[in-house]
Amino acid sequence: MQTILAIETSCDETSAAIARCDRDHAEILSNVVSSQIKLHAEYGGVVPNLAAREHVKNILPVLRQALEEAKVGPSDINAIAVTNGPGLIPALLVGTSAARTLAWLWKKPLLGVHHIEGHIYANAITHSQDQSSKLKVQNQNMEFPLLALVVSGGHTQLILMREHFRYEIVGETQDDAVGEAFDKVARILNLGYPGGPQVDAYAHQFARTVTEKNAEKTRKRVQLQRPRKSASLQRLSARKFDVSIKFPRPMIDSPDFNFSFSGLKTAVLYAVQKMSKKEIKERTPEICKEFQQAAIDVLVTKTIKAAKKYDVKTVTIAGGVSANTELRKQLGISLSKHFPHTVYRIPNTAYSLDNAAMIASAAGIRFARMNKKNRAELCDFWKTLETKSDLQLR
Ligand code: KG4
Ligand code: ZN
Repeated sequence: MQTILAIETSCDETSAAIARCDRDHAEILSNVVSSQIKLHAEYGGVVPNLAAREHVKNILPVLRQALEEAKVGPSDINAIAVTNGPGLIPALLVGTSAARTLAWLWKKPLLGVHHIEGHIYANAITHSQDQSSKLKVQNQNMEFPLLALVVSGGHTQLILMREHFRYEIVGETQDDAVGEAFDKVARILNLGYPGGPQVDAYAHQFARTVTEKNAEKTRKRVQLQRPRKSASLQRLSARKFDVSIKFPRPMIDSPDFNFSFSGLKTAVLYAVQKMSKKEIKERTPEICKEFQQAAIDVLVTKTIKAAKKYDVKTVTIAGGVSANTELRKQLGISLSKHFPHTVYRIPNTAYSLDNAAMIASAAGIRFARMNKKNRAELCDFWKTLETKSDLQLR
């Protein structure tokens, strides 16, 4: 087992984690995340220099807390890992400077981790059951070929892995990332930042309202008519209370595995521009529900198509948008319908958003697979580690 200390500061979370890793799994001993959401919410998005200042303020207390919670000291640590891109340069530099300093001071091997690689390896963190989605989560080894649907604020990609740490991008967004579209729609509707969780919650609220209306209707009908099965009655009335607004499903039928979300966001903007303030307020849950469903329809359809083409053994979701309740659920349902033998891995929601545990997982599994010579070579890496805003996944 390899004990890894990891740091993540690519955007607006200062995070440090300790993990114990073997060749296939990561067990998390601590994962401290200090969020700056409140600070950036005022500006409607992340301000890079403000983020960097906060990281500088938080990095040492966060590191200390991660070590204390895991009850480990420098002598227990086998390697240090850090996100070295992609992300906001002023923010990334705080993490990489801290990691390089510790690697030099403690004479430890240093690993740079691509942020998206981290999101994918959040799926290798051991845990029993995802309580939020009630879905059964597999704890077995990642089986290849594996298809990862990467959905975050900066990325929307379908990545094929034929083995550990080998990535082939088989499809990606031609314009906005899906998380960006969630954030922009939230801004159009004045829901605050970050938008994804807000849109998710409003969409859920619409679904709940529909269910309540259905229940009421069912009660009335049951009183008036002879009793019928309530499930079929619910289905009947669900159609009646369906969303009346419709948004496009961009590129859903294109023969490739690419995406486009900017037209969908614009469709929301045009629809909202035609509404009065009162109507926007009243229909926000419905707009969120339909926008979210349009995005999910495209993501799920393309993932299923790619899973078929590449005959994959595992499908995973990765990135902040993987916290979306409906996406987690609907991709699972669709997969079990089309490919009942394909393993569906989703990260525990605690590891969906940016965090250092996922960075520790990717680095620790890679380190556990290295020979002694390669590990020793990394002891000098603090001298040359590069920090890149557009780091490529290789
Ligand atoms: O991975 P992440 O934390 O940061 C990046 O690497 O970009 O992803 C952040 C993105 C934001 O766009 C945020 O709105 C979105 O993930 N997000 C969600 C949900 N929670 C976060 N989108 C939809 N539903 C959610 N529940
Ligand atoms: Zn991320």
